[in-house]
Amino acid sequence: MAIILGIESTAHTFGVGVVKDGKILANVKKSYTTESGGIVPLDAAKHHRENKYDIYAQALDKAGFVGKEEKIDAIAFSQGPGIPPCLLEGLRFAKEIAEKLKKPLIPVNHCIAHLEIGKITGSKDPVMLYTSGANTQIIAYASGKYRIFGETLDLGVGNFIDTFARHAGIGFPGGPAIAKLAEESEKIYIELPYTVKGMDIALSGMLTNLQQKLESGKYLLKDLAYSLQETVFAMLVEASERALAHTGKKELLLGGGVACNQRLQEMCKIMCKERKEKVKFFVPPNELLVDNGAMIAFLGEIMFKEGIKFSGKKAEALDIKSKERSDGVEVSWK
Ligand code: ATP
Ligand code: FE2
Repeated sequence: MAIILGIESTAHTFGVGVVKDGKILANVKKSYTTESGGIVPLDAAKHHRENKYDIYAQALDKAGFVGKEEKIDAIAFSQGPGIPPCLLEGLRFAKEIAEKLKKPLIPVNHCIAHLEIGKITGSKDPVMLYTSGANTQIIAYASGKYRIFGETLDLGVGNFIDTFARHAGIGFPGGPAIAKLAEESEKIYIELPYTVKGMDIALSGMLTNLQQKLESGKYLLKDLAYSLQETVFAMLVEASERALAHTGKKELLLGGGVACNQRLQEMCKIMCKERKEKVKFFVPPNELLVDNGAMIAFLGEIMFKEGIKFSGKKAEALDIKSKERSDGVEVSWK
């Protein structure tokens, strides 16, 4: 039995989660948002600094551990990838709490946490379509590592949507706003560049094209939003289907903030159903798709049970890994 506290701080969200034996006892978070511009790294880090004690206190309270912090076995934190000033806030806070409670630290890869939390849905050996702000990858486990079968060659889908939204002046994050606009369109499809290469995708051509179309004043924003979603999601579905065929796996799992999108979920579901070799579709609830502390605690617990933890000088020496890739992590727990 283990009780793990997890800290998330890679980008816009500061979150603290508590997990006990694979059950989520608390998942509290606060996210930095803007009304018109994009994410400013130092402002996001300041947001984390200003909210960390409050989020931590709320999570302890929710989990029923106020005054019983000694029951926590270890502190897991998002080590990377992410925005350096934001990651540093999380690392410093994790070290502070670990020292105070005299507990070990567990460094967690953020992307793999997005993946592993999918286990909560009952998925066991999936192809995972991981679509978030900075990342867009199609990942599956094979001989000791999570392998990246396909990925974006330029922008992450979330950043792509957020950049277009910022251009259109509708603030950050853009995903939910674009989804809402798309629903308002009478399904007027405007053709956009579609780029899939094997299991990889590219988005910068479509972004330029969308921005030109928006500036031309010839199209309604809601129709551009609709067409953006239809085109990008079709690209993701095509690449995921190819990965399913290639690996022979029988499950598709979604992860990352963009997976909150109902239309993306629907398109993936249809593809899974229509495949001759039936594929089961899994998607965690929204609060576990976006960045959150519970997924860090969840993977932290799995790693803790494998004996992966750092104390004393080794804990002090832990640093952020802002560019760490999913396929660079040795997966000894599977
Ligand atoms: P990464 O995991 O790459 O570090 P991230 O930390 O930015 O990315 P997530 O919280 O996993 O974050 O995802 C954030 C992204 O999800 C944002 O780009 C946001 O616009 C997008 N998003 C959130 N809700 C929706 C939605 N309903 N539809 C589309 N996109 C959405
Ligand atoms: Fe994320």
